[in-house]
Amino acid sequence: MTTTLPAPDVLDAFRAATGFMPEDEGLALFAAAAQAATATGLPLLEIGSYCGRSTLLLADAARQAGTVVLTVDHHRGSEEQQPGWEYHDASLVDPEVGLMDTLPRFRRTVHAAGLEPHVIALVGRSPQVAAVWGGSLGLVFVDGGHTDEHATADYEGWVPHLAPDGLLVIHDVFPDPADGGQAPYRVYLRALAEGFEEISVTGSLRVLRRRGR
Ligand SMILES: C[S@@+](CC[C@H](N)C(=O)[O-])C[C@H]1O[C@@H](n2cnc3c(N)ncnc32)[C@H](O)[C@@H]1O
Repeated sequence: MTTTLPAPDVLDAFRAATGFMPEDEGLALFAAAAQAATATGLPLLEIGSYCGRSTLLLADAARQAGTVVLTVDHHRGSEEQQPGWEYHDASLVDPEVGLMDTLPRFRRTVHAAGLEPHVIALVGRSPQVAAVWGGSLGLVFVDGGHTDEHATADYEGWVPHLAPDGLLVIHDVFPDPADGGQAPYRVYLRALAEGFEEISVTGSLRVLRRRGR
């Protein structure tokens, strides 16, 4: 049977980790990941590792199903995380390089939770990694750059690798522009137009699967 809750220590680590995902959305992400990992036995894929907050939940779902999570990030931050923008965290700037570097905190977070054996961190730009990736995936979680250029490239690069019975999860879907940026919403609409159906909505997190599966 698919476990629907993360391990208590993983949930505590999620709550303590740097990041933006609310707990109800995290639990919905975990449930989707557990379902996809159990059904397919395939690796899970996250675009947007940041400091590892959502990665912890995907890693726990992967661990319970005997697979791994791959998580892609260049670790230089999205547009809205740069200096002067709403989501900037000055403690994440590498003082020597003068740029954001979320990789050290990501690694500490995953290590402290004991989940390193279940996580493969891919450091690079999502479209470049997708272009050289050759395997099938049980789940694609889109939470990288939130511009149309980035969100569209993530969808186009990774969805072709999604197994027929895999799940597509999109974060920060805001139908009302007053609630947030529209690029993830446009990707969500495109997925619906291209054969996906929605199976759950939790806050801004949408879980989709291919119609007829
Ligand atoms: C919103 S954060 C991810 C938050 C994370 N999923 C969580 O819930 O804890 C978005 C991340 O995507 C990364 N990113 C943005 N554009 C990217 C791209 N084209 N390739 C790789 N990573 C990218 C940023 O560096 C940033 O760490």
